[in-house]
Amino acid sequence: MCGIVGYIGPRNVKDVVIGGLAKLEYRGYDSAGIATLDNDKVSVVKSVGRLSNLEEKLERTPVGGHLGIGHTRWATHGRPSDENAHPHQDCSGRFAIIHNGIIENYLSLREELLAKGHQFKSETDTEVVAHLIEELYNGDLFATMVAVGKRIKGAYALVVMTKDEPDTIIAMRKASPLIIGLGDGENFIASDIPAVLEYTRRVYVLADGEMAVIHRNSVECFTLAGEAVSKDVLEVTWDAVAAERGGYDHFMLKEIHEQPKAIRDTLTGRIAPDYSRVVFGEELSWTPEFVRSVDRIHIVACGTSWHAGLVGKAVIEQLARIPVDVEIASEYRYRNPIQSENTLIVVISQSGETADTLAALRDAKARGRKVLAITNVVGSSAAREADDVLITRAGPEIAVASTKAYTTQLVVLYLLAVYFAQERGLLDDTLIRELLTGMAALPQAADQVLDTAPQLEQFAKDWSKVEDTFFIGRGVDYYLSLEGALKLKEISYIHAEAYAAGELKHGTLALITEGVPVIALVTQTDLYEKTLSNIKEVKARDAFVLGVTFVGDEALAKSVDQVIYLPKTMPLLSPIVTVIPLQLLAYYAAVARGNDVDKPRNLAKSVTVE
Ligand code: F6R
Repeated sequence: MCGIVGYIGPRNVKDVVIGGLAKLEYRGYDSAGIATLDNDKVSVVKSVGRLSNLEEKLERTPVGGHLGIGHTRWATHGRPSDENAHPHQDCSGRFAIIHNGIIENYLSLREELLAKGHQFKSETDTEVVAHLIEELYNGDLFATMVAVGKRIKGAYALVVMTKDEPDTIIAMRKASPLIIGLGDGENFIASDIPAVLEYTRRVYVLADGEMAVIHRNSVECFTLAGEAVSKDVLEVTWDAVAAERGGYDHFMLKEIHEQPKAIRDTLTGRIAPDYSRVVFGEELSWTPEFVRSVDRIHIVACGTSWHAGLVGKAVIEQLARIPVDVEIASEYRYRNPIQSENTLIVVISQSGETADTLAALRDAKARGRKVLAITNVVGSSAAREADDVLITRAGPEIAVASTKAYTTQLVVLYLLAVYFAQERGLLDDTLIRELLTGMAALPQAADQVLDTAPQLEQFAKDWSKVEDTFFIGRGVDYYLSLEGALKLKEISYIHAEAYAAGELKHGTLALITEGVPVIALVTQTDLYEKTLSNIKEVKARDAFVLGVTFVGDEALAKSVDQVIYLPKTMPLLSPIVTVIPLQLLAYYAAVARGNDVDKPRNLAKSVTVE
């Protein structure tokens, strides 16, 4: 996710930039760096690790001046290291840039720039932009950045400075956030409002596709094509703590709302522009022979990540026809699992530090298996120790209850399923296109489904006193039921059980009495009638049923008490939109019960003990 800060004005530039970055550390913190313009010279200091490492380095290597930019990194391309930390520079050292996002076409740009003699120092996608600026600079940084904007593809918040224009910083935004803090004889730039609140409450929020030219005494805004735009000043009224949560009451709610962006970021650059195939490029070291040789997959994970694995099983088995076992890490490692030579082990872990998952990873490696890690943290133990890594680009997840990590794990598992199927020649071109265009539409669908929040808030308020709840569904809806029940239990402390809908009558139906809430997920078209019969079974025992189905399904409303309508997606891709109302339900139930939503009792974000 990364944090960005910039400053131009009379204050101590290092203090403003480092202070601002400290407020943004929640956006990522595997390395940090600063560039300042001091006596006609661009000075850059960077350090791997927490911001405190950079601060220590700055004590030994002080920087000064009236203009500076700084960055805390959450790695996506290139491991956390001093070289890969931002700011990045061109060959001459005249320019310094910081970036949040992903430059999708960096490989082709890098080749082009290498051919022109540019020399690269890092493994990042960002560095290409520094060299591109050097290549295109014509004495006018603004015109150069308009030209740069035409060459780069992807998502970015970019901030650039040069010794050749000592009263100018340029900031550009496409799909990654940026705000400009407006001062008197000074101005600020940041990824998020908390970084500037100490100095000003007046900000411009740059819209997608806008850029700003920031001088000490003025700020002008433009489209990325260079046309002037006028902006309204936002007067910030939140306190600093609320601002860190982006104005949301809790990190969990903020993270639920970040899902459309997290899904989009996780897809970025991994689908060919014509939707003909999944491209992992250099992310995977697998040869075509290896991809064809895999005869079984063991997915190993804990908790919510295990639930993501269950959906992964359904999708991989359906599309790639490879048998998949989904294993709870704390069980797997102790039962001497049967692995063939060609079993691929996939560990899923948001943190990449869960002790049981790491133990399973190490055990599999010791047995000579190939291990793929799906994780949200680039420098984590799982990422370092696995043979291959696919990063979920959800950005740091602060709330203990996992939300955006889960949806992005699903995205990676979908991509993996299509990848296996396409490489093994199992899908025709039309179906691949249908799946990939369906996946590309998921961020928008996730955005739409957030509109169900008021209905779920009311439902949660009405039902917050209950002590027992049931979630039912068939196929992937059953796996979603497990996740919905876990989310409700862990933050609202309401007892919840998830059942494969057809299994209720084998015992649990005895617990259904008048008014017991049952959340029934009905998104799988081929299982619709069967699930409806199971709903009738609980309705006949006077349960209160909240049905979850796609928009356009008028029939369900006749069989249940309330319906949540989801935007239409392919049934196979529905888990991404189905889970969001379940997260919102758990969230609002916890709020209604007055619980500490972000830090539920007895739980920790990263479980590093067995
Ligand atoms: C629940 C939750 C946990 C984690 C589990 C594994 O909301 O967050 O169940 O999913 O502790 O953590 P990771 O994915 O970091 O290995």
